[in-house]
Amino acid sequence: MRTGKHRGTLAVLAILVAKRSGSRPMRGSKQTHEPSSCVILLACVVLAIGWPGGADAGDPAAGRHKAAACRTCHGLDGLSRQPDAPHIAGQVAVYLRDQLAKYRSGERAHPVMEVIAKQLSDTDIEDLAAYYASIKLSVEMPP
Ligand code: HEC
Repeated sequence: MRTGKHRGTLAVLAILVAKRSGSRPMRGSKQTHEPSSCVILLACVVLAIGWPGGADAGDPAAGRHKAAACRTCHGLDGLSRQPDAPHIAGQVAVYLRDQLAKYRSGERAHPVMEVIAKQLSDTDIEDLAAYYASIKLSVEMPP
């Protein structure tokens, strides 16, 4: 299981831990708890929001290369080239990653995407998700 799904929960937990340890002194440690609760808080925040550029984040440049395998249907720009393929440009990275993982495991069934996703490693999935998510969209609302 990856941390992405639980970031919100961890962030709330981090705040709760910080409030708790800040509001009453720890038994037998008078004032000395202050620095350690800071360290715990920092660790929670890092866990919650993720370390920038950490192993969790895909590489959009690598993803762009790998997207050669997707372009016939989703386009290199993430805009669908086939009537049954969805646009994936600018889609949320976590969503893209989860859908690819679900196709790979068979949790989300589709004859074509399952075959394609089974050839992808975890890193491929992260990179492709990061690449398609990094495409900037501009939308125009209907009048
Ligand atoms: C032969 C055509 C084809 C190719 C090649 C292809 N896809 Fe797909 N893709 C589809 C179709 C069709 C669907 C819709 C499947 C469904 O209904 O679940 C889809 C769905 C998806 C979805 C889910 C989108 C959503 O909105 O839920 C993602 C993500 C995705 N593809 C990523 C990729 C990536 C990344 C590649 C390249 C590694 C790729 N696809 C290659 C045809 C293709």
